Amino acid sequence: MINKIALAGCGNVGTALLEILHEKKDELREKYGFEYKVVLVSDLMKGVIMDPEGLDLGAALESVRETRTFEKLPRAEGSFEELLERSGATVLAEGTPTNLKTGEPGLTHIRAALSRGISVTTTNKGPIALAFDELTELAKANGAQLSYEGVVMSGTPFIDMMKSGMAGCTAIRVEGIVNGTTNFMLTKMGEGMEYGAALAEAQALGYAEADPTGDVEGWDAAVKVSILAKILFGADVPVDKVERTGITKVTPAQIEEAKKNGRAVKLIAGLDASGAQLRAYVEPKEIPASHPLASINGGTNAITVTTDNLGDVTLIGPGAGRRETGQALLGDMIRMSK
Ligand code: HSE
Repeated sequence: MINKIALAGCGNVGTALLEILHEKKDELREKYGFEYKVVLVSDLMKGVIMDPEGLDLGAALESVRETRTFEKLPRAEGSFEELLERSGATVLAEGTPTNLKTGEPGLTHIRAALSRGISVTTTNKGPIALAFDELTELAKANGAQLSYEGVVMSGTPFIDMMKSGMAGCTAIRVEGIVNGTTNFMLTKMGEGMEYGAALAEAQALGYAEADPTGDVEGWDAAVKVSILAKILFGADVPVDKVERTGITKVTPAQIEEAKKNGRAVKLIAGLDASGAQLRAYVEPKEIPASHPLASINGGTNAITVTTDNLGDVTLIGPGAGRRETGQALLGDMIRMSK
């Protein structure tokens, strides 16, 4: 079966997905039996292009390189829902920016696809945090699949590891570094860079949210904690119920002082189900240098999950970035196609 891909949101991540698809077309077919056509790309800034026979990705990417838009290709007219139907898409890759209050526009896109039996992969944390049960049910009712690997650790497959590789293990505790922007900033501040410069560099690298307040105030890490609470513990922990402290008050002097005492300042996110109540938190902590999380630097993320059958398992890998998050969408699509 040929996967007919619709892409909603073609910013850093969506463009990276198109680049990978274009570069690896033959490899994807030969290694994974994954054949595709991109039939629809919809982006608020770049424009909307559609071809049920498959868009010319080379031309689309060239247009983006030259004009930052799709203006060199014929423009498609109509609502997202109409275009989704007319395109004949079989899978939606949803990569619009996260809005933690409304989940939009991702939520509308995902509902539109699932209700038509079109499977979805998303990197958008809003809809998954706000409407996990509804969307899971909608997928089931319409014989579609819903995947969201990229909402935690970008393309580093923590969710797949838990669902597939570690199937049968029960999680007891999770602790980790799940925000690339703040980890990058804390690393750079430890090297003497000022807060504002470190944030600007994290933005330039494509790590930060469209509104980076979400990163530095700990909201992004909190939403990941909320999503992991659902996936790992089946618990409803709304984002605003996660105990949350960001890094806005952390200073280079504090990092320097911690370093002198053999410690590293890290924004730690965690879930602890060992007590009577599930504890969910995000807070800057001083970690002893000997602790595995102390050496996780830059945009890298790491999560240690404590389980009954395997004890501690730690996964380390990129947690943000264009191509890294594009990989999350691709990996989901390959897994779903199987
Ligand atoms: N802004 C997020 C981060 C992107 O810095 O980790 C990945 O979810």
